[in-house]
Amino acid sequence: MANVIIVGAQWGDEGKAKIVDLLAEQADVVIRCQGGCNAGHTVVHHGEVFKFHLIPSGLLYPDKLCIIGSGTVISPEVILREITEIEAKGYATTNLKISDRAHLTLPYHITLDRVQEESRSKDQNGEKIGTTGKGIGPTYMDKVARIGLRLGDLYETDELLKKQIAHILSIKTPLLKHAYQAETETVDEIFTLCKQYAEQLRPYVTNTTPLIHEAIGAGKHILFEGAQGTLLDIDHGTYPFVTSSNATAGGACTGSGIGPSRIDQSIGVMKAYTTRVGSGPFPTELNDSVGQHLQEVGKEFGTTTGRRRRCGWFDGVIGKYSVQVNGLDGVAITKLDVLDGLKELHLCVAYKNIQTGEQTSDFPTRLSDLAQLEPVYETFPGWTGSVHGIRAYDKLPIEAKNYLTRIAELIGTPIAIVSVGPERQETMMVCNPMRNERKDDKASAVTAC
Ligand code: IMP
Repeated sequence: MANVIIVGAQWGDEGKAKIVDLLAEQADVVIRCQGGCNAGHTVVHHGEVFKFHLIPSGLLYPDKLCIIGSGTVISPEVILREITEIEAKGYATTNLKISDRAHLTLPYHITLDRVQEESRSKDQNGEKIGTTGKGIGPTYMDKVARIGLRLGDLYETDELLKKQIAHILSIKTPLLKHAYQAETETVDEIFTLCKQYAEQLRPYVTNTTPLIHEAIGAGKHILFEGAQGTLLDIDHGTYPFVTSSNATAGGACTGSGIGPSRIDQSIGVMKAYTTRVGSGPFPTELNDSVGQHLQEVGKEFGTTTGRRRRCGWFDGVIGKYSVQVNGLDGVAITKLDVLDGLKELHLCVAYKNIQTGEQTSDFPTRLSDLAQLEPVYETFPGWTGSVHGIRAYDKLPIEAKNYLTRIAELIGTPIAIVSVGPERQETMMVCNPMRNERKDDKASAVTAC
């Protein structure tokens, strides 16, 4: 058994929740490490659909300790609603713990997110980022500016809490008023809200660091659940069209309070094609009938905002980049069944400079450089019939195996898991990361470990 990080290896929405839910069965502890209620995790369990934003996907197992780590930002309203909903469906939440170091998203963060987005479209150089509008960026801004409120602060004396809120609002109120002509709440209003949240969240909020280290000391097995995806990472993503946290594997360590030496494997989740919500570059995007097929068959609508996801071919350049910046030991390829029925598949193997014709397989830093590049595709025949019912890798059509083998070669890491549907059992486990199984030949095809 092992400690395993699961991260999104594209632009989010890769199907991480299903993979986490599947592997969580073999874990003792599941930790959500970064991001906030911008994430949307869909888990299908016994035909019932669960949509989580903050709650770790492992909560459906009553015997797992589920932790929301210090690197996350918490909207009390959203987490309390999720707790109520999940309890109403008959699941207990006593195994949920939230780090007292996590930062609080309060109403003025949501206002700031909205007005900043609006002002971006007014600015002639600005393009909307297309944020989820959940106050994520402004909450992380305050954290880094060292004027954030942490969950633990809710349990300070009234005098101290009020003083902290007054200090924050002495900065926020004039900013919102003068830069954006927007109102914010008064100190008393925020204080009252905070007191109410403190009581409602009391059973869950604690110092989670000792809990995690006790579990490690006892040889327990931890699954780290990433949110968003590598190309949305604040440092390594398509900046500024990114989220405000580290969605890469390093973020799992800083966001939970454990060192990299305690991690046995990092697994990236990639769709068999590519999607993105919000604005920003997307080299393999398709605006044709194939894009429409992926969108419709893949039911590509955002879990959090309901927005249509942009769809395109699998991009091996970003795949390789994700393997590098996350140190991926393997990948889980999801939604292979969505490619059923396509006569031909295209796989982006490199980018070509439209001026010079020069090719590269390195993902560039500057978006102006990316704009000069176009995808170079290899073409693969599609398969007949559906892979949806297949449960063993060997039983996949040869065309699907060839496609997957080329992906593994391109990105430079083996395929550990293949998913062909939303349910737990609609999965082929090639190497089980929770048993620390791995293939030595990094670029090999997908044969069992
Ligand atoms: P924010 O995280 O709300 O600030 O949004 C920044 C960008 O990240 C936007 O393009 C969002 O659409 C995108 N984003 C944030 N969370 C997710 C997610 O969980 N899946 C996919 N995209 C996301």
